Amino acid sequence: MTGMNFFRSKDLETTKEFYMDELEMDLWLDQDKCKIVKDGNLLLGFCEGETVDEGGTITFFYRTKEEVDEMYEKFKDRARGEPSENDFFQVYQFFAEDPEGRILEFQTFLHHLEPYMEGIELLENRRSVRDYTDEKVSEKTLQKIFETCRFAPTSGNSQSYYFMPIKDKEIIEFMAERRGSNSQPIAEAPMAVAICCDPDKTGRPQQDGDIAAYHFTLTAWAHGLGTCWIAAMDRKDVKDKLGIPQDHYIATVTPLGYPKEIPETPSRKEVEEFVKRIE
Ligand SMILES: Cc1cc2nc3c(=O)[nH]c(=O)nc-3n(C[C@H](O)[C@H](O)[C@H](O)COP(=O)(O)O)c2cc1C
Repeated sequence: MTGMNFFRSKDLETTKEFYMDELEMDLWLDQDKCKIVKDGNLLLGFCEGETVDEGGTITFFYRTKEEVDEMYEKFKDRARGEPSENDFFQVYQFFAEDPEGRILEFQTFLHHLEPYMEGIELLENRRSVRDYTDEKVSEKTLQKIFETCRFAPTSGNSQSYYFMPIKDKEIIEFMAERRGSNSQPIAEAPMAVAICCDPDKTGRPQQDGDIAAYHFTLTAWAHGLGTCWIAAMDRKDVKDKLGIPQDHYIATVTPLGYPKEIPETPSRKEVEEFVKRIE
């Protein structure tokens, strides 16, 4: 199920402008008398009315305290006070008001969250992580990630991939040393995962393995976990160490853990630079 909240507005134009121009939400659906705006998984509808719905609180949450601070700098004039930690709810937050007096809350949770991101947000903000906290990844979280990896597409639905979680420090170090600085991120995380494929089960071991690995990185990110694709790990010494046959394919051995910080987005091409339309 998916949903949204609707609010009556006496000044639809100003309200729409505030949410779109200042909060940078997109106009998701224009129903003339109702404007529905969207950011991430948040859908808000504002409809022309004789009164203003100002009950409740509209909460925007961000991944880091820095992002909350940025919002505070932007909305200082509307804020009811500076951002602070709320120990009971384990959030870092501040409150403000929209132009019609609705209460807005800007916060970040100070603990891990179950997945909440919608697809586009997830695809656009996943990053390669090379620096991790020491916090261990629970078996429960790992299991949830693997449950989602069941749905990776494979050639002929062969489901030819398999995952090898690595927690042994000595094996992690061994993996990290294979490719110098390229594989160093493995040593920074509390664990690693080898994502492999069995060629006896598929005619397309590379595609199946690579897609399963990318499915894994996205799912891990949805759980707040970082990964980093380490290339060229499809090699004899790695297979010997993991005890897997030489003809199996290793898509990657990725570190897995909670990011120390969210990396900046590296520069990206414009669409026109990589879409070559046939005249
Ligand atoms: C096929 C492939 C191989 C990669 N190999 C490595 C690697 O060996 N070591 C590493 O630190 N990052 C590696 N990366 C991560 C890229 O550097 C990273 O995806 C790129 O800089 C874009 O950053 P982003 O993933 O945060 O968007 C690899 C990524 C891909 C897709």
